[in-house]
Amino acid sequence: RPSRVILSGIQPTGIPHLGNYLGALSNWVKLQKSAQPEDKLLFSIVGWHALTLPQDPAALLAARNDMLAVLLAIGIDPNRSILFHQDHNPHHTELSWILSCIAPMGKLRRMTTWKSRLAAARNSGSEDEVDESMLNAGLFMYPVLQAADVLVYKATHVPVGDDQQQHIELTRDLADIFNRTYKGTSPLFPLPTYVNTPSKRILSLKDPTSKMSKSSPDVQSRILLTDTASQIQSKIRAAVTDSIQGITYDPEGRPGTSNLLTILAACTDSDVIQVAKAYESQGHGTLKRDVAEAVEEFLKKPRAQFDRIRLETTYLDEVARRGATRAIEHSKVTMMEVKTRLGL
Ligand code: ADP
Ligand code: NA
Repeated sequence: RPSRVILSGIQPTGIPHLGNYLGALSNWVKLQKSAQPEDKLLFSIVGWHALTLPQDPAALLAARNDMLAVLLAIGIDPNRSILFHQDHNPHHTELSWILSCIAPMGKLRRMTTWKSRLAAARNSGSEDEVDESMLNAGLFMYPVLQAADVLVYKATHVPVGDDQQQHIELTRDLADIFNRTYKGTSPLFPLPTYVNTPSKRILSLKDPTSKMSKSSPDVQSRILLTDTASQIQSKIRAAVTDSIQGITYDPEGRPGTSNLLTILAACTDSDVIQVAKAYESQGHGTLKRDVAEAVEEFLKKPRAQFDRIRLETTYLDEVARRGATRAIEHSKVTMMEVKTRLGL
């Protein structure tokens, strides 16, 4: 089969939680393992996207470095994959502007990510214009920049969560509009394929009706990659479950218990139904003890690696610099073709 160009990105949000790790980042490592030698892999820390929300500059700088260290700690190999900061490659914003000039406003307005921002800003009875004035234009343009991230490398496969599927469809639309508007001898952009990563949705430990999230004010609701064994233990012990006897996997009826089973299965690389069966006649105490143990075992190595790598600032700078150089080498070719077609 033809070689693939696989691209994914993550915002620099500091230390990831178990949901980020199991739901997104661990898939990158699996992809890296399963890719063919001729497949190209690009993993990007998307600092420009982070600017759509208010950021403290010192915290953003730290978060960018921490995310790079995290990705190395969990096993992204900078010799195999192009690991880079999005904001180190100006071609992303350059292409983003070009795409914005062919992007239909109506399509952008229909993005559910935008609509939910707007809904959150909405005052009852006010005009859309008033609501929109509370939001920055970067939030509106977010999916166009994301399309540029993908297209600037002519990526063919984009593994992201299902909340991002609509953005990949927009990316295909923009690629297609560009290809039809600026016809050359052949279409310039391949239409990228959305790769649904078999992601596990990890729920909040304190409110298992919502997902584990960095934005929850309750720090007990999430396990961070850097949590110690005793922090993991106390968070799992305090996890909200139910008072039903025995253990069964029933995400609808028993979300808290099922979430613990999902975590246990993911951390031990086993099937959740099988795991549930093994705990059928056990109590929550036993389950929690084993979940805490499995999480600790699962996070031990990446945590140790992270603690070591985050201090190696010279190495981190070197990885970032080399990643940027390699990324730019690829995108430079695309940008030359794009500009030629545009008459620039
Ligand atoms: P958060 O919800 O904590 O703000 P982000 O929105 O920054 O996390 O998501 C970063 C990545 O992690 C995305 O690919 C997202 O799908 C994934 N992710 C976030 N939370 C979870 C979760 N609880 N379970 C599984 N995957 C998650
Ligand atoms: Na989020």
